[in-house]
Amino acid sequence: MKSELDTLSIVVIGASGDLAKRKIFPALFALYCQGFLPEKLTITGFARSEMGHAEFRERITEHLTCRYTPGEASCAEKMEKFLSMCHYVSGQYGSTDAFLDLFTHLQQFEDHSRVNRLFYLAIPPSVFLDVARALGNAGFVYCGETSPWSRVVIEKPFGHDRSSSDELVRELGLVFSEHQIFRIDHYLGKEVIQNLMVLRFANRIFEPLWSREHVQSVQISWAEPIGIEGRGGYFDQYGIVRDVVQNHLLQMVSLVAMEPPSHHTSASIRKEKVRLLEHITPVGIEDIVLGQYTAAPAGQPAQVGYVDDDSVPNDSLTCTYAATLLHINNERWAGVPFLLRAGKALDRKTTEIRILFREIDNCVFCEEEGCPHTNELVIRVQPDEAIIFRITSKVPGLGLEMESRDLDMQYNTAFSELIPDAYEDLLLDVIQGEKSLFIGSKELAAAWDIFTPVLDTIDANHIRPLPYPFGSSGPAEAMDLAVRANTVWRQ
Ligand SMILES: NC(=O)c1ccc[n+]([C@@H]2O[C@H](COP(=O)([O-])OP(=O)(O)OC[C@H]3O[C@@H](n4cnc5c(N)ncnc54)[C@H](OP(=O)(O)O)[C@@H]3O)[C@@H](O)[C@H]2O)c1
Repeated sequence: MKSELDTLSIVVIGASGDLAKRKIFPALFALYCQGFLPEKLTITGFARSEMGHAEFRERITEHLTCRYTPGEASCAEKMEKFLSMCHYVSGQYGSTDAFLDLFTHLQQFEDHSRVNRLFYLAIPPSVFLDVARALGNAGFVYCGETSPWSRVVIEKPFGHDRSSSDELVRELGLVFSEHQIFRIDHYLGKEVIQNLMVLRFANRIFEPLWSREHVQSVQISWAEPIGIEGRGGYFDQYGIVRDVVQNHLLQMVSLVAMEPPSHHTSASIRKEKVRLLEHITPVGIEDIVLGQYTAAPAGQPAQVGYVDDDSVPNDSLTCTYAATLLHINNERWAGVPFLLRAGKALDRKTTEIRILFREIDNCVFCEEEGCPHTNELVIRVQPDEAIIFRITSKVPGLGLEMESRDLDMQYNTAFSELIPDAYEDLLLDVIQGEKSLFIGSKELAAAWDIFTPVLDTIDANHIRPLPYPFGSSGPAEAMDLAVRANTVWRQ
């Protein structure tokens, strides 16, 4: 039962941090400006750092934007009202007393109405469980699915491998039921990723082509042109496979390759994603190429190598690049290589999915002009969101010359609407109890099963990643992996 009289009480734990400042509070402000948050609202930041309400408000203001409230006066007014609902309480993460103090603080604003509680754990994973237990001990958690509800949002990494992930699921499960836990993979909140299912299942032309009969390979690339830049503390313990491939890229694979869900509900969608992940063969060591960036070559702007960064141990074997070949053993995809690659300190910034179609058998033009180029569907997640379909076209003029050309839907020109930040969508879904864009525990287990064996092999054998220069396209051996899969990486 939902009522206008209910209070929504949002507590951001780790509110002094980067994620809270850059993403969570701006997203809450954007939802507030668009009228998605209830009248009775209170937002509280909690962390160990000592800070007053005023200092906290100043801190979070830095990244609030007026994109949904153009006009200086109306934006300033909205911002002032929003900030007046934001408070800060400091305390230790594992302390029940600190959370009882938080409870006393919240009661000033909760006005004896029914309170729906949203806890966002924007803290390192080492303190997830301490916080969850303290929340439970302080009496914050009630388990109903309808109002009044308590929900918790957690950020990756969800464990380090299958067994640590299972333990986290189990321990968190002692405080929160699965229906209360929202595991964020912010890529799932990105507009283009949300469009993937619409593209596949609301357009007649794609589904008949979406199989091994017509698809030659699928390539998913994630590249960042920057290195670790002093933030090695977290990354060095995880590396690129755990940080990007096992979660963000695998989520994209499941949306590209899953069977159509029976309904547009989170239960149906999750069921199909799990089914797909369970059909992927665990990655073997022969199907992965690992790299670590070195300093930029002479003649290019100076950039230090990964192990020369002050926040990284000199002898680190952590991978900053990985390319891997996945095999999906089901009727639709058997034999189609799914190539994934992710890397830091590369020559570009991109996240994209490419579906490469097979060549035409017996093409009527082949004899005269050689085989036309193959079709390719490009789904560009960032930067410059776009969906591009590469076709073969006759070049205007006398004679028959053919070239590849793009049917090109660039989001910034095709749509006049603002593209929301992923966190806006995801936070609204948490408030509305909609779970299709969040990772379920079964999905998490299936995803870890694909990478845990190879990660164990890499760790046990201290496998040394291949060096690649800062600003390059990664280790050349990644090209060989694609060749072995009878394809080539496309840019
Ligand atoms: N930043 C991103 O874009 C991003 C993306 C994906 C996932 N994540 C995940 O989201 C969480 C928060 O990210 P963040 O970038 O905001 O992290 P952060 O700034 O490093 O940490 C958030 C807050 O946690 C507290 N903290 C930091 N290290 C701690 C430690 N060792 N023990 C106890 N408390 C500690 C600090 O607050 P106090 O010292 O005031 O208590 C800090 O302000 C992390 O788990 C991260 O892995 C972040």
